[in-house]
Amino acid sequence: MDKNVVWHTHKVTRAERATCKKQKPCLLWFTGLSGSGKSTIANAVDVALYERGYHTFLLDGDNVRHGLNQDLGFSDEDRVENIRRIGEVSKLFTDAGLIVVSAFISPFSSDRRMVRNLFPAGEFIEVFLDTPLEACEERDPKGLYAKARSGEIKEFTGLTSPYEKPERPEIRLDTSSMSVMDCVEIIVGYLQERGLISEPTGQS
Ligand code: ADX
Repeated sequence: MDKNVVWHTHKVTRAERATCKKQKPCLLWFTGLSGSGKSTIANAVDVALYERGYHTFLLDGDNVRHGLNQDLGFSDEDRVENIRRIGEVSKLFTDAGLIVVSAFISPFSSDRRMVRNLFPAGEFIEVFLDTPLEACEERDPKGLYAKARSGEIKEFTGLTSPYEKPERPEIRLDTSSMSVMDCVEIIVGYLQERGLISEPTGQS
């Protein structure tokens, strides 16, 4: 970074922005293979929180790669830069007081750790979609596994590019044996237990 770039402290603080939205910001970081259900569960959680009146924002690999990260491919180096940018964007959105839901393969442990380290303790929640490769490949919703098997796509995660499983994710889900609603309930329950969102009215 250029030494002449000086950090400005904002007059409206992070805490004030969150208080104004009557919520606690956090980042739900979904990680897992292509086809593991990241986008589906992230979207369903986003809807569940939105319906409860929370201010959220969803960041999704395929969409972000159409805009902000359209200059990046799938080499190890580009994936690192992809996650670095998403981490910074997620940080800005939580600084704005939002609950951020992100869905990126994010195959490397070191990159996920880097994003975790941008956040105060308890605000980064790693959700590992531990769906077996066989199930992801069987689903193959975008036909990408078939293309990767035929050699049309190089460096495909899980086949010709590595995926490093999280060792201690806050939440682990296997969408080959759990329904979307089961997964949503577990995630929403976790946010309630941690006091990040409130319990539904009628319960203590
Ligand atoms: S990441 O590895 O850099 O975190 P990201 O989540 O942004 O990946 O993008 C993954 C999406 O890009 C997949 O859901 C899939 O649709 C598409 N894709 C295209 N090529 C590849 C590839 N070689 N490996 C993995 N995903 C790919």
